[in-house]
Amino acid sequence: MGKLLVNAGIELGQPTYDKPTAEYIISRFAYDQVIGSIHNLRDMPDFCELKYDNYDIYKLLDEYFDEELELARWGKFDTLAHLTYPLRYMVGDQGYTVDLNRYSDIIDEILRALIENGKALEINTSGYRQKIGRTMPDVDIVKRFKDLGGEFITLGSDSHFAEHVGAGIDRGKQLAVDCGFNSVALFQSREPVLIPIE
Ligand SMILES: [Fe+2]
Repeated sequence: MGKLLVNAGIELGQPTYDKPTAEYIISRFAYDQVIGSIHNLRDMPDFCELKYDNYDIYKLLDEYFDEELELARWGKFDTLAHLTYPLRYMVGDQGYTVDLNRYSDIIDEILRALIENGKALEINTSGYRQKIGRTMPDVDIVKRFKDLGGEFITLGSDSHFAEHVGAGIDRGKQLAVDCGFNSVALFQSREPVLIPIE
């Protein structure tokens, strides 16, 4: 105790769009933790850059969750980050209402693929300090992951600034407990280490 553990990690955004390069990067360095995520559809800008008045939101989300499923099945990462990423912008920043119930089947498939591959689901707490006001994914999906047999969750503050390091992690821990988890995982040399939630 009283020491700071510093691990080596990488977030691979859209690794499935160029699997050979992603696999090369993973094999090239001795990471502790590899994060998998998707921030944009193929040949499109990041979801943070889209003006949703110009799009059919559900058409984008149909494709997004298909890509998330492919990512989860590919599975060469340790934790799947911010599963509901587009909502940060669609709902949080631009005020659209999104009914995620229409994706419950494919979200189940994504969660099952993570479980089958022994992967973790990230609770991304950045939403607590952003307009969306909740984690990505939110409590319902984290609970569903647990119900389906999910073992590992990671907590991420998604800090792009020093002052955001660790922001919302205590609330995220409480959410994990509320969903039935009694530990969070971190990865060392790509192996899960369970840290009990006190
Ligand atoms: Fe990300």
